[in-house]
Amino acid sequence: MKYMTGNEIREKFLKFFQDRGHLMLPSASLIPQDDPTLLIIGAGMAPFKPFFTGKMKPPATRITTCQKCVRTGDIENVGRTARHHTYFEMLGNFSFGDYFKKEVIPWSWEFLTEELGLPADKLYITIHTEDDEAFDIWHNVVGVPEDHIVRLADNWWEIGSGPCGPDSEIHIDLGPERGCGKPTCGPGCDCGKYTELGNDVFMQYEKHHDGHLTPLKQKNVDTGWGLERILAFLNGTRDVYQTDLFAPVIAYIEEASGVKYNADEKLTRSMRILADHLRTSVMLIGDEAKLLPSNTGAGYILRRLIRRAVRHGRTLNMTTEQLLHIAAMYIDEIYAESYPLMKKNREFVLSELQKEIARFESTLENGMKELQKILEQKRSEGKKEIDGKSAFYLYDTFGFPLELTVELAQEENLTVDEEGFAAAMEEQKQKAREGQNFSQK
Ligand code: ALA
Repeated sequence: MKYMTGNEIREKFLKFFQDRGHLMLPSASLIPQDDPTLLIIGAGMAPFKPFFTGKMKPPATRITTCQKCVRTGDIENVGRTARHHTYFEMLGNFSFGDYFKKEVIPWSWEFLTEELGLPADKLYITIHTEDDEAFDIWHNVVGVPEDHIVRLADNWWEIGSGPCGPDSEIHIDLGPERGCGKPTCGPGCDCGKYTELGNDVFMQYEKHHDGHLTPLKQKNVDTGWGLERILAFLNGTRDVYQTDLFAPVIAYIEEASGVKYNADEKLTRSMRILADHLRTSVMLIGDEAKLLPSNTGAGYILRRLIRRAVRHGRTLNMTTEQLLHIAAMYIDEIYAESYPLMKKNREFVLSELQKEIARFESTLENGMKELQKILEQKRSEGKKEIDGKSAFYLYDTFGFPLELTVELAQEENLTVDEEGFAAAMEEQKQKAREGQNFSQK
């Protein structure tokens, strides 16, 4: 196993598949074009859906990319673990009606074990329960021992509607010091001992908007590897925040805040959230689509990320200038070589980020005071929940996203009536509609 940088892994992967007849394409925008089922691109295959279904002709039947991706589905875990982050790069190789299982499975293995030198005895494979063909290739062609291949019913992959199919995942065993120790623990257990590095999806079906499946005319492959996770393992840290894609930022946060990484659980979580959310925000604003924070859709995801970053930055006593310095580090140092577009959009990214931070900071202070009052009142009344109207008041008057109120309440062992919040929001919309009608009369 060799120490490698993020740039080296990216280049190695793309070359490996170019050598096997793939056309290399640059990453597509993070904002989907013509796909109303997705707000943000969350997988390498997402920009290529029409090529898999055969609705559009691809420029080549074999393509390889390193795609910018954002997933906020398990945002709550970001910071709590050393392996969750919202932005990531997916290394992908795709076959559109070209090769299938017998080619891609041995390539995936060769790339991991020979090109990257990952230890074969630490790799575990999961396959769909009924996929005897994949079992045969992994076991008889590649030579993976039977006790390293696990059949799971939920080995199936899809994103929004469109192409989907059974998949085969490759997990790495992080060692005996990790894990829950339960007899059922194995690849697929979410305790953290086995980390999924990536998967080969055998795209054979199309999922329609109403959920029903039809077989595709052509058989396709969609393979995706998480660059950061592979990098962490190759860097020997098991912690993505200590790889070269994050380490300089974490070191800067340590210096600026005077807090040591890994010394205190809560502050370490804040350090990771700050590093992660600012990186994702830089990528979204600096993207081809130049996304801006707003109150709907992808813009709202961005707003939420920036606001969370600011709040955790404040927990670490960091100033706006220091937060902007972190953003500039991603643009000028960490992604200077691999994402030159960021450099081109540098001033735009920094000024939009600064505006959104300023907008939030002015409301944050007052909102925090208001929230403290609400918390005290609830405590004095012996209540364990913040009512929906109060949560909505914080949202409407102080710009507190619901998730922020939930998170702050959780820190005080209180919950939030989220349904009540939705009802209060609806009530306000209704009033606004009535108001509009009134003024038109
Ligand atoms: N599309 C597959 C994934 O994102 C490779 O996991």
